[in-house]
Amino acid sequence: MPAAPWDNGAAAKQLFVLVTGANSGIGLGICQRLIDDFTAAHPSTSDHLIVITTTRSAAKSRQTTDQLRQHLVTQEARAAAAKSSLNPDRIHLASIELDLCNLPSVYAAAERLRFSPLSIYTGAGKAASSPHVIPRLDSVIFNAGIGGWTGIGWWNLLTNVLFDGIQQATTFPTCKAALGGLLVDPLTGKEVKGAGGAEKEGVMGQVFCANIFGHYVFAHALLPLLRGTDESSNSNKTIGHSALGPGPARIIWESSVEAVGWNNLSLDDFQAINTLAAYESSKRLTDVLALTAGLKGVAPISAPFFKADDDDNTDGSNNDDTTPATYVTHPGVVCSTLFPLNWFCFALYQFAMYLSRWLGSPWHPVTAYKGAVAAVWVALQPQSALDALDAQHVKWGASTTRGGTTLVKRSEVEGWGFRGIVGEELQSTNVDSITGKAWSDGKGDPLAEMYPYPAYLLNSRGRKKGAATLTSERRQEFEVLGRDCWQEMERLRKEWAERVRKAREEGHA
Ligand SMILES: NC(=O)c1ccc[n+]([C@@H]2O[C@H](COP(=O)([O-])OP(=O)(O)OC[C@H]3O[C@@H](n4cnc5c(N)ncnc54)[C@H](OP(=O)(O)O)[C@@H]3O)[C@@H](O)[C@H]2O)c1
Repeated sequence: MPAAPWDNGAAAKQLFVLVTGANSGIGLGICQRLIDDFTAAHPSTSDHLIVITTTRSAAKSRQTTDQLRQHLVTQEARAAAAKSSLNPDRIHLASIELDLCNLPSVYAAAERLRFSPLSIYTGAGKAASSPHVIPRLDSVIFNAGIGGWTGIGWWNLLTNVLFDGIQQATTFPTCKAALGGLLVDPLTGKEVKGAGGAEKEGVMGQVFCANIFGHYVFAHALLPLLRGTDESSNSNKTIGHSALGPGPARIIWESSVEAVGWNNLSLDDFQAINTLAAYESSKRLTDVLALTAGLKGVAPISAPFFKADDDDNTDGSNNDDTTPATYVTHPGVVCSTLFPLNWFCFALYQFAMYLSRWLGSPWHPVTAYKGAVAAVWVALQPQSALDALDAQHVKWGASTTRGGTTLVKRSEVEGWGFRGIVGEELQSTNVDSITGKAWSDGKGDPLAEMYPYPAYLLNSRGRKKGAATLTSERRQEFEVLGRDCWQEMERLRKEWAERVRKAREEGHA
């Protein structure tokens, strides 16, 4: 196999990022923004970005790669007009098929990424692809998802706007109508009709499977590629140099701004089959899993998830140096095809979202590109910057000012607050966006240095009506919820791994 196009010399710095659901909406925005923010932050010709997209068909994969190449052409033309260059030959694109509701396809995609050469397209030109095996993944951005909604509940919309106001109603809507009971056969990816209302042998809640479980299984199967990077050349863990420096690989979940409450998730309906709010349940579960993964009371239960099946550590312990770090982000509110609307309602919806932003809501990026800012920011920050912000313990939201300038902002989660800190103050100053006090190093909140928009960084801005300051009882309950959720996810992962193995052995999958 020829040398990979990202291997141009010993100083080569590479960043491998995978994005699910990349053919439309926020997923496509994430890939475009990754290219733009990476080339801006890493202008050296030896810095390479490898973006691997996943879609549900070969045609969508081709179209996504074409769109990203076209984006690169446009951006390079802009740079040329300013007498500069992105050096587009250091951007590499590949795409594979993945249906998160079809578990054999999930395992097949992970195996393909681990063992098979991918067709890699380099640069902005029309050059053909060349086959290369990727050595690792630095970040995986779990963006793909479905809503499971059928339309708008008009009465709920009216009362929502009248009683809560336009900003609350467009950020934390109560008007989304759904049928509920959506089921899928995860061995074939086919919808199961007429079996709704209860958990049944061999089927799974469809929204749960698409938004959470498929990604969860995928992440576990990808662990051998998620080993992170180490600059030390004589370490046996060294598998490359990252453009961001050494650090663990990152699992970045795309959650939602709205599903932050206790009532969004019930352990009695874990796969959200009986509820009419399956989407909200899946997003609350995303928050709970991501924010509690490393907590003392949860880590022993989540540990097997972070241990690859073919890991040769026989003592059963995790090697902390190679355990991926988990982050959770959300895109704010973006007008995409996620919510089913006809063109007229879509136009009204878009107008209402801009109106909300102009009225001062921090959670209305509206376009996919702006909504991509939080996930891309987490993927591109040096590890030291994320650690200084204790970023694994924060839900990072995409935010914009009234004028549409993007920033990244801490988002509140019931039972966790903004950072899992009991009694956290809401008001803040230029110096410290959370507590108003000096940060431990005396330099202030690093976020305020990155984004000089103190009024938008205030935790009180964009808060859900009725949200309460975190108490120690609620914080404890959240950790217990995290433990129970991890336990159930692990049980399901093992059960379905066995089912897929059998189906494959019997030639059914
Ligand atoms: N839009 C918002 O305001 C908003 C707010 C909060 C959170 N989010 C989250 O942002 C993410 C992207 O949403 P979006 O607004 O960009 O929606 P979108 O335009 O509908 O994109 C969803 C993507 O997920 C893919 N997908 C759906 N089911 C899949 C499956 N079973 N397997 C693999 N891929 C699948 C879709 O592929 P196909 O094209 O093949 O269907 C599509 O690429 C979702 O996780 C959503 O929950 C969005």
